[in-house]
Parts: sequence; C-alpha cells; structure tokens
Amino acid sequence: MLVLGIDTSCDDTSIAVYDGRENKVLSNIVSSQYQFHQEFGGVVPEIAARKHAENIDIVFNEALKVAGITTEDIELVAVTGAPGLLPALLVGLTFGKGIACWKGIPLKGVHHIEAHIFSSFIGTSPQFPFLSLIVSGGHTLIVLVESFGKYRIIGKTVDDAVGEAYDKVAKMLGLGYPGGPVIDRIYRNYDGDFLPLPKPRVPDFNFSFSGLKTAVRRLIEKGYVCEQIAASFQKTAMEYLIEKLKRAIREFQVKRVAIAGGVSANSLLRQTLKKMETEEGIELFLPEMEFTSDNGAMVAYTGYRKFLIEGEDNLDINAVARSSL
Ligand code: KG4
Ligand code: ZN
Repeated sequence: MLVLGIDTSCDDTSIAVYDGRENKVLSNIVSSQYQFHQEFGGVVPEIAARKHAENIDIVFNEALKVAGITTEDIELVAVTGAPGLLPALLVGLTFGKGIACWKGIPLKGVHHIEAHIFSSFIGTSPQFPFLSLIVSGGHTLIVLVESFGKYRIIGKTVDDAVGEAYDKVAKMLGLGYPGGPVIDRIYRNYDGDFLPLPKPRVPDFNFSFSGLKTAVRRLIEKGYVCEQIAASFQKTAMEYLIEKLKRAIREFQVKRVAIAGGVSANSLLRQTLKKMETEEGIELFLPEMEFTSDNGAMVAYTGYRKFLIEGEDNLDINAVARSSL
C-alpha cells in the first residue's frame, strides 16, 4: 500500500511517500521555513500557515516525482491533525482531505507526538515495550510505549520544552534561530572549562527548563563569553535529560530506549546514549538524522500501522492545537 504522509504542524512543510508493504520510504521532502521566522526568534503561526499554503503543492509534486509515482498510485493519506499550530495544521489536513476526497481513498489522522515516537523504527518494526524520550521545540516527555496506541506518560516538562530552552538561550546569546544546531556546533568545537549551572529539582520524572534559562541570563550579565555559556548550557541540559531517563529505565525495568524530536539530533545526547548501551545494557533506537525533525515519513509510517489496526477516519476529523497522547 502506497501511503502519502503529510505534516504541517509547525514550520516545516513535509510530505513523504511510503511503501507500507515493503516498509520503505520512497521520498521524504521537507521545505523548511526557518528563515522567515528567524527575525522573530520563534515560529509565527500566521506566517507558518501562509508559507505552508504557498509551498504544499510544490512539496507534494516533488515527493511524487522522487518516489516515481503519480496521484493514481496513492492508496492512503496519513496526515497530522494534532497537536501543533492550528492555522498551520489546517493547511496540511485540508490538503490531505482534498486528495482523499478527490481520489476516493482512505484518510488517517495522526497524532504528531505519536509519529515522532515511531520515527526510530521507520524501515523496521518496533519491539514493545520501550521508553521513548521525546525532545522537541514543543515537547519534553518520557513515555512508556506498550503497543501502537497504548502510551503512558511518565514524565514531562512543567514549563519550557528543551528545544524551546535551546532557542531562547540562543536568542539571548545572539546566535539566531533555531538555537539547537548552533549551540550543538559550539559545544563540539569547545575545549575549555564548563560553568556550573543548576539542574532544577522537579519531582519524579518531570523536567523544568525555565530556571536554566534564567541562570544563563545571569552568566551573560556577568560577562562570560558566549562559547563557554553555550557549551555549559548544552552539557547541563543533556546531563539533566539523561539523569531522568536513567532513573526511568531503572524504575520501570524497561531496557529498550528510543529518542525522537528535533533535539534527538543532538550530538552529545546521541553519544551519551550510545555509551549507555554498553554501560547500562540498554537496547537503543536512534532515529536517522532526516527523521529527527518534523517529517512526512514518520506520519506515513505511523498512519499506515494505525490504519491497519483501526481502519480509516471520517473526512470530518478536525485540527486540534493541544492534544495529549
Ligand atoms: O521536532 P522539531 O523539528 O519541531 C518541533 O518542535 O516539533 O524540533 C525543533 C527543535 C528546535 O527547538 C531546535 O532548536 C531543536 O529542535 N534542535 C536541536 C538540535 N537540532 C534541532 N536541539 C539540540 N541539538 C540539536 N542538534
Ligand atoms: Zn515535531
């Protein structure tokens, strides 16, 4: 079954073609809009929606071309319906509904976080249960995944998401948007001493990143150099994520660990987790770099499997900005 996967939940217009039977991604096209949001230091919903509307048919045609198929070959449309920026979500959802309606093929709405969760397993099959650390611009969650559709949130951020903290720290340091890749690059090239930063004490497996951001502001005011602050921030933020994850692994006795979301591209996070594979005896599932940030392939993969289990959705499904797993 050839599946079209669409995601316009934030600032990437993403469309993929995925062959469900072969478990193979035939194309995965992403048109990033970050340069239009850069001057605002974050994503502006109305600009995001306008750019999605301008670009979606270009991205769609490119996805078909790279996959070597035509609209006649598509057998299922999987599209992100929630959560995300409402005007942005509506562009992809309406486009997907249009194709399903036009071609008389089934439609499957996909939860964006659920799609991220399975991004490490595209091309393979997940083995349950596993712990998923979802780290993006909008979310920081530890989820116990028992099967497709059975999720237990065991920890989440009480304020900023880790990616949001990266973006805010980068903005304070004048490093532009998005902050993650720049700060990660600075960390990799840095060989000096690290500044001590606080790891917020939040109970259980929850996280807090707003205190870390305030501590960074104080270091800037004290006149420390940008590279030292950025590298110290990354070290503390990643140690904090890993400490909570390690505790969750022990508490829930689950040795399979997957990560997902834009921050899962982080070099220090990946390197530390790889070390844990031998030290802690965990089985690690890292997403391919192209599937760390928002993409249509994860939506197609997840939508296809949910379609096999639950069947299709009605054309009246709606976009929802805030939606728990
Ligand atoms: O999942 P994503 O593409 O979009 C959503 O938020 O849904 O995640 C984007 C976030 C941004 O905050 C960006 O700064 C962060 O991922 N990011 C990184 C890295 N690459 C992207 N954070 C840390 N290290 C990176 N290498
Ligand atoms: Zn995302």
